[in-house]
Amino acid sequence: MDSSPVKSTFGKAEYRVQDKLKTMNPLIQTRADYDLAYQKSVEDPEGFWAELASTFEWKKPWDSVLKWDFIKPDIQWFAGGKLNITENCLDRHLATRGDQTAILWEPNDPNAEVRRYTYRDLYHEVCKTANSLKALGVKKGDRICFYMPMVPELAIAVLACARIGAVHSVVFAGFSANALADRVKDAACKVVICSDYNDRGSKHIPVKEVVDQALAMDCDCVEHVLVLKHTGDPVQWTEGRDLWWHDQVDHQPDTCPAEVMDSEDMLFILYTSGSTGKPKGVVHTCGGYMVFTWYSFLNVFQYQDNDVYFCTADIGWITGHSYIVYGPLLAGATTLMFEGVPTYPTPSRFWDIVDKHKVNQFYTAPTAIRALMAMGEEWVTGHDLSSLKVLGSVGEPINEEAWKWYHDHVGRGTVPIVDTWWQTETGGILISPLPNVTPMKPCYATLPLPGIQPCLVNSSGEEIEGNDVEGLLCMKFPWPSILRTTYGDHERCRTTYFSMYKGMYFTGDGARRDADGLYRIIGRVDDVINVSGHRIGTAEVENAINCHPDVVESAVVGYPHPIKGQGIYAYVITQHEVKDEAAFRKEVLQVVTKEIGPIAKPDQIQLVTGLPKTRSGKIMRRILRKIASADTSGMGDTSTLLNPEIVDEIKAGALAPTKS
Ligand code: WT7
Repeated sequence: MDSSPVKSTFGKAEYRVQDKLKTMNPLIQTRADYDLAYQKSVEDPEGFWAELASTFEWKKPWDSVLKWDFIKPDIQWFAGGKLNITENCLDRHLATRGDQTAILWEPNDPNAEVRRYTYRDLYHEVCKTANSLKALGVKKGDRICFYMPMVPELAIAVLACARIGAVHSVVFAGFSANALADRVKDAACKVVICSDYNDRGSKHIPVKEVVDQALAMDCDCVEHVLVLKHTGDPVQWTEGRDLWWHDQVDHQPDTCPAEVMDSEDMLFILYTSGSTGKPKGVVHTCGGYMVFTWYSFLNVFQYQDNDVYFCTADIGWITGHSYIVYGPLLAGATTLMFEGVPTYPTPSRFWDIVDKHKVNQFYTAPTAIRALMAMGEEWVTGHDLSSLKVLGSVGEPINEEAWKWYHDHVGRGTVPIVDTWWQTETGGILISPLPNVTPMKPCYATLPLPGIQPCLVNSSGEEIEGNDVEGLLCMKFPWPSILRTTYGDHERCRTTYFSMYKGMYFTGDGARRDADGLYRIIGRVDDVINVSGHRIGTAEVENAINCHPDVVESAVVGYPHPIKGQGIYAYVITQHEVKDEAAFRKEVLQVVTKEIGPIAKPDQIQLVTGLPKTRSGKIMRRILRKIASADTSGMGDTSTLLNPEIVDEIKAGALAPTKS
C-alpha cells in the first residue's frame, strides 16, 4: 500500500495550502489553533480537508477533494480516492499499538468477566468474521442487517462488513419485529446478524425470537441468519437459514484482504424518523465519514494516548456508530463498550465503571443524567471519578439543572462539559465546545467545529445575520460526513433536507445565537419529538395507534417531560364509546409496542370526540401542543378552525403533565 499517496493530488491549487497546513496539528489545543483552523476551513475548505485526509492510508489518491450541489443534492468528498475504512481503524495501528486495548467490554452483570480486545485481537476477529460473511456469499454492496445487544461481536461484525465492502444497517434491538421487518425489507438485506438473547438490566430479551417474527413478514431477501450464542438459552431454529456464529466464524483464517472501496461507496445505512411517513435510511459513505468522525472525535474529546473513553450510547444509534466504533478506532483509542443500563444493579453503575476502568472521557445523554439526578447524589459520591477529563452530552438539549449537576457531582466542578449537537444525518458532531479550548456555557452547544458553517434563517429562507438572534438552523456548506441520500429514495432526501431553504441543508432544529455568537439549540421545529434522546416521528406513532381496530383518528404531540426531555401525548378518537378506559389505554400501548417498540409508547392518552382542524383538514398541532404542555397562556387565533368548539372540550379533558 502506498503510504503517502496524497502527494500526487497536490500538483493542483491546494498544494500551497497543503504546504501551509503541514505544520498544523490536527489536534486543536488553544483558542488560537481553533480560530486559525476555522478560518482556514472557510477560506479554503478543500485544502483544509485534504490536509486532514492525508493523515490516512489511501490505496489511491482522490481525483477531487469536493464536488457539491445542494440543489440535487449531489455531494462527493475525495471522489476517486480508494480506501478501506477498516485498514485505517485496524491495520494501520498494528505496528504502533497492536497490544493496546481497542475495545474494553463491560458486561451487564458487574461480576461477569470484562473482555479486552487489543488492536491485534480486533484485527484478527474482524478478518475471521469477514471471511465467514464471504463464505456465505456476501459481496461488496450487499446489505447486512444487525439486531444485536451491546456485545463486542456487534462492533466486530460491523467492521467485518466494512472490510468486505458490504453495507451495514444496524437496527436498535429495542425496536419491534414489525419495525425490524420494515427495515430489513427497505434495504433488501441478505443476512441478519443477531444473538440468541440479550440480558439488559434485569430483563432477559429473546432477540432471536423477534428476528424470527420479523422474517415471517415477507422478508424473502434474507438468505441467512447468523446467530451469536450469547446467553446460551435454547432458541427456535430454521435449518438451512439459521447458522451459529461459532460454527461459521471460529475456523476462518484470521487475515482477510480489505475490499477496495471508492471514497463515495456506501459504508452504512441507518434508519431515522422524520416528520412524515416511515423512517428513512440515512446513507453514509466511506471517505468523508472516516475523516470527519476521526477529526471530531479527536478534538471534541481531546483524546490522548492511553486514555480510556466511554460512550454510553447503543451502537443502534448514530452516536454508537461514530463515537463508539469508527471515530475512536480511527484515532487508535481505547473505547469502552457497556452492555447494560445505568440503573443496574444500582444507579451507581456508570460511576462504578468510571472508577473501575479509570475512564478519562465520558459521553452520555441528558435523559440519563436527569434520571440519575432524580435518584440522589449519594449514588455518585464515594466513587473515585478523578480520572475524568471531559464530560460529554448528546441527543437533546441539556437543561441548566442537569448541566450543573453533571458538572458539580460528576465533574467535581472542574471537568469541562461538551454539549455536542449533531444528527444521524450529519454523521458527526457539528457544534460543540472544545474542552479547555473554546468557551462553555450551560445549555449551549456553543461554536461550530472547523469546517462547519451554520446559519440561522427565517421562515422565508433569508439568513438572519448578527448576534442575539433566533431562527431555523441550516448549514451553508457541506462537511465530509453529511448524508448523501436516503436509501432507495433520493427525492425524499432532497425534499426533507435541501428543498426547504434553497442552497442550504436544513437541520429541522430551531436555534438561537447569543450576543457572543454562541449557539443554543432550542429543539425540533418539525413533527419530530425527542423522547429520552430517541428521535420519534409523530406520524409514525399516529399510524401505529391507528392500527387499533377501534381508533378512528389520532394526533400525537410532544410535551415537556422532567426526565425524558419530551413525553408523548396522544389524542385519540374512537369509533365506539370506550367503556373501560384503562383497558383501552393498555391496548393502545400494546399496539404501539408491536408496531414500533416500547420507546414510542405514549405517556398520555386522551380520548377526544374531535381534533382541531383547519378548513383544509389540517390538524392544528400548535393548539394540541399547548394543551399537552398545560400551557394556559391562551390558544391564540382559533378563528380559522373548522370546529373551534372542540378546543374547550379537549382542554377540559386534558391530562395532568407527568410528574415522574
Ligand atoms: C436531533 C438529532 C446526534 C446523535 C444523537 C441524536 C437533537 C442532538 C443535541 C444537543 C440539543 C440535540 C436535535 C437533533 N439533538 N444533540 N446537544 N442539544 N439537541 O441523533 O436521533 O439523529 O437526533 O437530536 O433536535 O436534530 P438523532
